Formats: sequence, C-alpha cells, structure tokens
Amino acid sequence: MSKQFDVIVIGGGPGGYIGAIRAAQLGFSTACIDDWKNAAGGPAPGGTCTNVGCIPSKALLQSSEHYEQAHHHFADHGIGLKDLSIDVKTMLGRKDTVVKQNNDGILYLFKKNKVAFFHGRGSFVKAVDGGYEVAVGDEVLTGKQVIVATGSSARALPQAPFDEEMVLSNDGALRIGAVPKRLALIGSGVIGLEMGSVWRRLGAEVTVLEALPTFLGAVDEQIAKEAHKAFTKQGLKIELGVQVGEVKVNRKGVSVAYTDAKGAAHKLDADRLIVSIGRVPNTTGLNAEAVGLKLDERGAIVVDDECRTNLPGVWAVGDVVRGPMLAHKAEEEGVAVAERMAGQHGHVNFNTIPWVIYTSPEIAWVGQTEQQLKSAGRAYKAGTFPFMANGRARALGDTTGMVKFLADAASDEILGVHIVGPMASELIAEAVVAMEFRASSEDIARICHAHPSLSEATKEAALAVDKRTLNF
Ligand code: FAD
Ligand code: NAI
Repeated sequence: MSKQFDVIVIGGGPGGYIGAIRAAQLGFSTACIDDWKNAAGGPAPGGTCTNVGCIPSKALLQSSEHYEQAHHHFADHGIGLKDLSIDVKTMLGRKDTVVKQNNDGILYLFKKNKVAFFHGRGSFVKAVDGGYEVAVGDEVLTGKQVIVATGSSARALPQAPFDEEMVLSNDGALRIGAVPKRLALIGSGVIGLEMGSVWRRLGAEVTVLEALPTFLGAVDEQIAKEAHKAFTKQGLKIELGVQVGEVKVNRKGVSVAYTDAKGAAHKLDADRLIVSIGRVPNTTGLNAEAVGLKLDERGAIVVDDECRTNLPGVWAVGDVVRGPMLAHKAEEEGVAVAERMAGQHGHVNFNTIPWVIYTSPEIAWVGQTEQQLKSAGRAYKAGTFPFMANGRARALGDTTGMVKFLADAASDEILGVHIVGPMASELIAEAVVAMEFRASSEDIARICHAHPSLSEATKEAALAVDKRTLNF
C-alpha cells in the first residue's frame, strides 16, 4: 500500500524544500524526497546550495577574506600580527560545520511544518488515477501533485572529466586540503571568480582561462571593467578569448594546452584544475520517461511561465528549468507553485531577480545593463557614484567601485542598478525593493539614508541620474 500525499516534492534544495514548506503551510499533506548524503551516509537536505554551493563557498570566502585582511590590511589600522598562518583543515572544518547547521536546520523545519521527509532517490513509477506514483527506496508514494526540483550538476570538459582530486568541480574546489601553489581555472564566470578568489587570497597563484573575449559579459560593461581592474590588481590572472585544448593529468599536476586570443599556443601547468564552465539540469534517476515528462534539448524540464510541465499536476522549479540558476530564484518558484496549487496567484518577477558575485569587491545587480538598454533602443539616463567619495567606505578602508543607476529618460523609472564595491550583496536589496515598486530614481534620491553608511552611495547615484550629487 503506497503512502498518500497531496504533494510530493522531488529534490530538497532551495526550490524543493522551500516549496514543500510552503505547500505544507497551505494545508497540503506534503512529502519531500532528497538523495543528498553527508559523509556518514545520512541525509543532508539543502541541495547544491547548502552542500556544495552558496553556503560552503561563502564560508570559505569569509575565512579567506579574514586572512587577506590580516595579511595585507590590518597594518593600516595599526594592528600588528606576527607569524600569521592559515590552517586549511580548520578552515574546511568550520565550513563543514556551517553546512551541517544548515542541513539540520532544514530537517528541523520539515518537522516544524509537518513535511514528511524521505531520504533517497525519487523516481516516477507511473501515472495513476488522480496523481502519480513515485518510488523512493523500497517505498512507493502517491501524490495528487508533484513538484520536480532536482537541480543541476557541474558541466565537465569532455577532455577532462572530473576526478575531484586533480580536476575539480565546485565540489572538489570546496575541499582542497592544502593551498595549491598554482591553481588553474577554466571559465571566469561566477564560480571561477569566487573560487579563484578564495585560493588566491590564501596564497595560490591563480590563472583563469575564459573562452569569451569579454569579461563577465552579462554584467554592465562599466561595472565589469572596474571589477576586472580590481581583480587584476589583486593578482588574479584572467586570460580572455582562449581556446582550451588537451588537458593532461597525472598525480603531480595538470597541464592545460590552450591558444590565446591572438592564436598563439600556450601550456598552463598547475597543481590543480577547477572547471567552472556552467551547469547542466539534473534529471538522472528521475525516470521522466515513465510518465512522459518533457525535457528540452539541454535536458531541462520544459515549463511554462508558471512552472507547469506538459503533465497535469506536475510542476518543475529551480535549476532544472529555464532561467537563472540561483537559489533565490528556485525558492521564489517553489513558493509560487505551492500557492498556485492552492488556487492563489503565485508571483515571480524575473525582472527583479538580483545577482551577486561574492568576490572582493562584490558585484551585484538587478534589472537591465547599459548595453541591453542600448541594444533595445531604449532612451535612458545614467548616474554613478564612486565609493571613494563615501565616508563610510573610507572609514572601512574599502573605496573600490561604484553604484550605478539606469533610469528611463522620460518617466525616470529605475531600469537597472549595478554595484561593484563593499557590501554590494546587501546594498542591492534596496534597488530590488525600489524596482519591485516601480520607483523612480528621484524616489530613492528623496529617501533619507543613514549617515555614515554605504547606502548613501546608492542615494547619491540616484541623485547623479539628475546630475545633482551632493558629495562628488
Ligand atoms: P539543488 O540545490 O541542486 O537541489 C536539488 C536536490 O535534489 C539535490 O539535493 C539533489 O541531490 C536532489 N535530487 C536530484 N535528483 C533527485 C532525485 N531523483 N530524487 C531525490 N533527490 C534528487 N546561488 C545563489 O543564489 N547564490 C549563491 O551564492 C550561489 N553560490 C553557488 C556556489 C556554487 C559553488 C554553486 C555550484 C552554485 C551556487 N549557486 C548560488 C547556485 C545555487 O546553488 C542553485 O541555483 C540552487 O541550489 C538551485 O536550487 P534547486 O533547488 O533548483 O537545486
Ligand atoms: P557561469 O555560467 O557563471 O560561467 C561559465 C563561464 O565559463 C562563462 O564565462 C563561459 O564563457 C565560460 N566557458 C564555457 N565553456 C568554456 C570553455 N570550454 N573554455 C573556457 N571557458 C568556458 O558558470 P559557473 O561559474 O560554472 O557557475 C554556474 C552557475 O552557478 C552560475 O551561472 C550561477 O547561476 C550559479 N552560481 C551562482 C553564484 C552566486 O549567485 N554568487 C555563485 C556560483 C555559482
């Protein structure tokens, strides 16, 4: 006899576990199935984000930033340190503790919200009258509705499969046991820059090989240029427009053959290689064929704007569907789907999903870039304000970067906000709220911002749209 539920969620990452909690809050009897295992083989819900993504990467970014500060910047404050060292084992142990706290937190939230958790791989068995059967281990569950939230996995280079010893995905990149002398990365996207920053700060000589001729092509050009300047100054070597060829791996290291943008051949020798060239949707083991769940040519589950698949009562959210591969996007979709199931109007605004790259300086943005507005032929006004002219940034000792506003030329509605600089990840929230409420740049310029705070740079950039900054 199968166990009956109103809703079965397959996948316990941010899309799945948040969707399951919201479904339970709305009164549905809900099961969540997740197969992630911790080192002891036990359940570790939270998906990529919690186990090998957002959370552990931010833990290592924090540790390495402390080290960098102590190494290079404490002296400016008159703080002297002798015999500064980094114990990588302790740093990784702290990261693992942070991950476990998050895993345990999710298990607690499942109990609190009465979500039945099943540890194992969920696979469709068949469609039945009024629902679907899903197997997990020896059990069969029946759900009136199913949310698929199976996430994504790292894309490998065909010539260099991941062994997680020498050729690392995001998983291995988060548990390198000692600082490599030379670290090579392929792909200067979000993971390349965040992971490259961690190991560079700890002393590795880091080279990033990027296929595209432009740096961070999706980012506003002016912001990307500023970030590139800062990363290069820090010692991160970024080679653009390369074509990666043969990758030779042995127990001592990795050798990457590539041609540079001018066509000259090179060889990059390194102790480890991180491959961060994007991610692929994850449907392995789901048995999508059994029920005829439609996938596209990339292997992503095909959904409409409201996350409905081709099957009645089956929804899909997060990295396994179209759209940006971000934890908060997955969460929003999970909530919206649960609310739609309950007959409510689930809401996800793709125009106001923020992006953050947690490097130093941080890069954050929401809405359109200047190059997008230009190519769409939209008339706009721009305003920028440098952190160099912000009192709090000077007191912090971190004056790199700027805030940039883009607003409609006629209505002044904010179309995009782009930040490179200290705490950009936190500052961007104000811009998201403003855009969600369809605010104008004048609205922000007229709001009182605390002094001294980095947020004053946001207000000043809004003032700059009307060419009336007060402090620059
Ligand atoms: P996932 O988090 O991938 O979760 C899917 C879960 O489903 C996994 O536990 C998987 O094992 C499980 N699963 C798969 N198939 C089955 C099955 N058949 N049965 C049972 N379980 C199954 N995003 C941000 O917004 N901010 C960040 O700072 C950030 N940092 C990142 C850093 C790194 C290194 C990486 C790799 C990613 C980062 N991301 C970040 C992206 C973020 O992790 C993903 O967008 C997010 O995890 C997607 O959530 P999801 O629920 O769709 O899938
Ligand atoms: P990415 O899409 O951000 O970057 C991949 C980069 O690799 C691109 O610049 C691409 O041009 C390059 N590339 C592709 N093939 C190549 C090749 N053969 N040779 C050289 N370069 C090549 O992907 P990444 O960094 O793997 O991250 C995956 C996703 O995970 C991100 O897009 C993002 O959605 C998510 N993520 C989010 C984070 C955040 O929000 N802070 C942090 C880390 C990941």
